[in-house]
Amino acid sequence: MLFYSLKSQGFAGPAMASLTVRQLDEKLKKQLRLRAARNGRSVEDEVRTILRGAASDTDAFPAPTESEPPGIAPAAKTDAKQVLLVIGGGIAAYKSLDLIRRLRERGVAVRVVMTDAAQKFITPLSVGALAGEHPFLDLFDAKSEFDVGHIRLARDTDLVVVAPATADLMAKLANGHADDLASAVLLATDQKILLAPAMNPQMWANKATRRNLAQLVADGVAIVGPNSGEMAESGEAGLGRMAEPLEIVAAAGALLVHASGALAGVRMLVTSGPTHEPIDPVRYIANRSSGKQGHAIAEAAARAGAAVTLISGPVNVPDPPGVTVVKVESARDMLAAVETALPADVAIFAAAVADWRTAASSREKIKKTGKGTPDLALVENPDILATVAHRKAKRPKLVIGFAAETEHVVEHARQKLARKACDWILANDVSPETGIMGGDSNTIHLVTRNGVEHWPPQSKSQVAAALIQRIAATLGGQK
Ligand code: CTP
Repeated sequence: MLFYSLKSQGFAGPAMASLTVRQLDEKLKKQLRLRAARNGRSVEDEVRTILRGAASDTDAFPAPTESEPPGIAPAAKTDAKQVLLVIGGGIAAYKSLDLIRRLRERGVAVRVVMTDAAQKFITPLSVGALAGEHPFLDLFDAKSEFDVGHIRLARDTDLVVVAPATADLMAKLANGHADDLASAVLLATDQKILLAPAMNPQMWANKATRRNLAQLVADGVAIVGPNSGEMAESGEAGLGRMAEPLEIVAAAGALLVHASGALAGVRMLVTSGPTHEPIDPVRYIANRSSGKQGHAIAEAAARAGAAVTLISGPVNVPDPPGVTVVKVESARDMLAAVETALPADVAIFAAAVADWRTAASSREKIKKTGKGTPDLALVENPDILATVAHRKAKRPKLVIGFAAETEHVVEHARQKLARKACDWILANDVSPETGIMGGDSNTIHLVTRNGVEHWPPQSKSQVAAALIQRIAATLGGQK
């Protein structure tokens, strides 16, 4: 009989529910069975895992309960988290109204600063009605300076969220400007800043914005989005849409929890996914990496409180919440992004970097000529892991690599550990029959200078959780 008591799992409380899986409807039972089989767990264990995940999410940043009114939630409780929301001037500002509502529904107190440009898109009146207090508008407003003052505004908060973060606000923050209330507050805060960029795709791709973004990431600012899609201007589409309010809420929630996790205060860098090496504008060299393992590691690290920068090649998995994601294409781009993201305390190289690129990629599509095949001379890509592990300056305390092997897994991993000068290698067998490359589970052999540990087959999120636990224990032991 599948019987699962919440009480037995430490969910103590006055009225504990019991759950009998057998009584669930057939469709749900089937989904649970499939999920359990995929993750190599019993159905009971699967239910336990789901409940544990849901309970820790709930503890971290509770979703509205059914008893709460659907509109504005009651005023924040005294122990509620405080978010300072800076609204920049962009068409996406209308979504910030929903963001305020979503945050308050979760018991978060929201104080708002609006730039002059923001007030051209939405009014202080609607912001004030949703936030439950007047927004702050002016650096030189005697009344608000008397009431709170921009320094207190910047400090008396658990997190600063900028949504929409315009190209202009990003430039000001990257360069330390403070000529209006929004930029002064961003400069004065000692709390974590989360930006939700929103702008035209050309502006997002502009070299100046890329420079500012790289600087902000290096300064430890967290980024959520932007997403790809239709712009407000008709006929314009691309990367630049602001993340949806619930995505921003998830990222904010993750950052708010970070302050107390096992990796609080730890700066972590993770690479993930494949790289694409262009042959010509339409063709490239790549591999089968899905990015699932690297992304799971970044997510688990963020949950444990680390400030995570995830440098990802092209993947189809979503950005993990609360993680700063830098998207790259080629191995050389990945190396440059890694160098920009340093220093870090821990660096984990889960990306399946393409070993070779073409010596010269063609600017035009290579055409068939009928006179034989093109000569695709290859050159070796830089080894990102080895470059970082061999650094004299700014070498992370813990440099961790993977070894994707199809034979002599542990022996090859040992050689890689020595050759690349890293501290640990997570070796896995990526032969097609294992289903590891692109799949949801993984079997790891952890190779260190002290020996080898063979981990059982488990889901990629379980591998991530085990690795993060191990890192926390190791860093704790080094203090
Ligand atoms: N790696 C890297 N840069 C490269 C190649 C690999 O950072 N240009 C990192 C990977 O992220 C991984 C480790 O090195 O952490 C091992 O990668 P793997 O593909 O197993 O080995 P390679 O070094 O590519 O060697 P080989 O292909 O000969 O097995």
